[in-house]
Amino acid sequence: MNVRCVSSADAISHDTPLLVLPVHESEEEACKAELLAPAGLSEVLSGALPVEDLKHKLGESALVYPNEGGGPRRVLLLGAGKRSGFDLEAARRFAGHAVRAAESVEVLGLTTYLGSGVSADAAQAATEGAVLAAWRFTEMKNPDEGDAPIDVSDFELMVDPEDLDAGESGVRAGDVVGRAANFARTLQSRPGNVATPSHLADEASRMADEHGLDVTVMGPEELEGERMHALLAVAQGSDEEPRLIVLCHNGGADDDAPLVLVGKGLTFDAGGISIKPAGGMEEMIFDMSGGAAVIGAMQAVAELNIPLNVVGIVPSSENLLNGRAMKPGDIIGSREGKTIQVVNTDAEGRLILADALSYAQGLDPAAIVDCATLTGSVVIALGHHAAAVFSTDEDLVDELRKAGDRSGERCWPLPLWDDYRRQIDSSVADLVNVGGRPGGSITAACFLKEFVGECRWAHLDIAGTAYGEGKLSYQRKGAAGFPTRLLVDWVRSRAR
Ligand code: BES
Ligand code: MN
Ligand code: ZN
Repeated sequence: MNVRCVSSADAISHDTPLLVLPVHESEEEACKAELLAPAGLSEVLSGALPVEDLKHKLGESALVYPNEGGGPRRVLLLGAGKRSGFDLEAARRFAGHAVRAAESVEVLGLTTYLGSGVSADAAQAATEGAVLAAWRFTEMKNPDEGDAPIDVSDFELMVDPEDLDAGESGVRAGDVVGRAANFARTLQSRPGNVATPSHLADEASRMADEHGLDVTVMGPEELEGERMHALLAVAQGSDEEPRLIVLCHNGGADDDAPLVLVGKGLTFDAGGISIKPAGGMEEMIFDMSGGAAVIGAMQAVAELNIPLNVVGIVPSSENLLNGRAMKPGDIIGSREGKTIQVVNTDAEGRLILADALSYAQGLDPAAIVDCATLTGSVVIALGHHAAAVFSTDEDLVDELRKAGDRSGERCWPLPLWDDYRRQIDSSVADLVNVGGRPGGSITAACFLKEFVGECRWAHLDIAGTAYGEGKLSYQRKGAAGFPTRLLVDWVRSRAR
């Protein structure tokens, strides 16, 4: 989608197929005046605007056809809720609804206006909403004639002349972040027979070359050399080779400690010998969502040229079952040297992350943030509206929660107390890979904690948020890109 920021100074003659204006909850006449004044649209619109048709609930709307002239050909008066509640997420959803409206009237472009005094953050959020809403995963469908949906391709954010600087920088950031999340969604959406570990590595490498990131990809031999026995143990049950993908953005000074993002890149999780039930197993193509978000976030970090050193790490494997697959009861090693009794081969995410986190530790990072579709248990705890965040560092939790609130990809803390850690004691190895059903997300996080040493670290369990029904205006059923926006926001916040 092409995005740009335009001035409202000539709104009346601005040629656009669809102008979308917000209707906030207020007195009808005041509302109408407010709506028409800044954009100077009263001449073309006021006669055609029955106030009783103005709806203020987000998503409700009225379509108006202005008098003939060179200006907007359609004007959509789109509910925007209470002005006081019009936060960044409301701007994102508003723009998502605006794009859906363009789809339904079958126009390729639209212009939205959010009122005067628009901040860069609001311009960014609205642009994200539009770019996210326009995304679709079509690459594996034959184009069918007839009811092919239209792809909205142009989005303009109209701002008052004095808001142009903020508007332009926000629109640019929103474009970068929106495309990064959409890249993650495309990788997420590719099925297991396409998005294999080597495919993820190829896509990460191609992206890195395009955006000037350093990239290293390790295959079985290099992983052996790194003693990544836990990642290799998961991969040995499949014919597809594992990969460890490392992306580096060198935006800081040579000796600046990097921020490290780690994402679970499990390209299909059948459960291994502890095989999953057949129903819904196809969803496990999304078990590489953390990895996709890290690759997407690294693209945005490069495009925004963030003045920090940032490293993205994606351990990638399948979790299948063949005659060489690891078995319940097996005791495996790890890069960290700790031995692990595998009682359930379906708890494989923590195994591949263990080695990746151990590697991250070796980079002497300022902080490590990992994200993983790690446990079904987190869906029970928090549902689909927030990820769980785990960390021993309260400041880091605070930073991530704020980044989540701003980006609309929220997270909420759960504890890492030693009482839970005892559930992963093993009588025959250093650790067992499953701590039982009670507190399943917490014991999984406790397991990861064993592999980060003394580093500042946080873990996001995104099993409930990485993909879904697509209920929000800017989402669709399937891949959500979560937490690409959160990660980019957090990295940017560290640069401020
Ligand atoms: N990839 C799954 C977790 C998952 C569940 C992701 C639902 C998305 C939606 C993970 O590898 C897994 O299988 N976890 C097990 C752990 C259990 C065996 C301790 C789970 O949560 O059931
Ligand atoms: Mn699993
Ligand atoms: Zn998994």
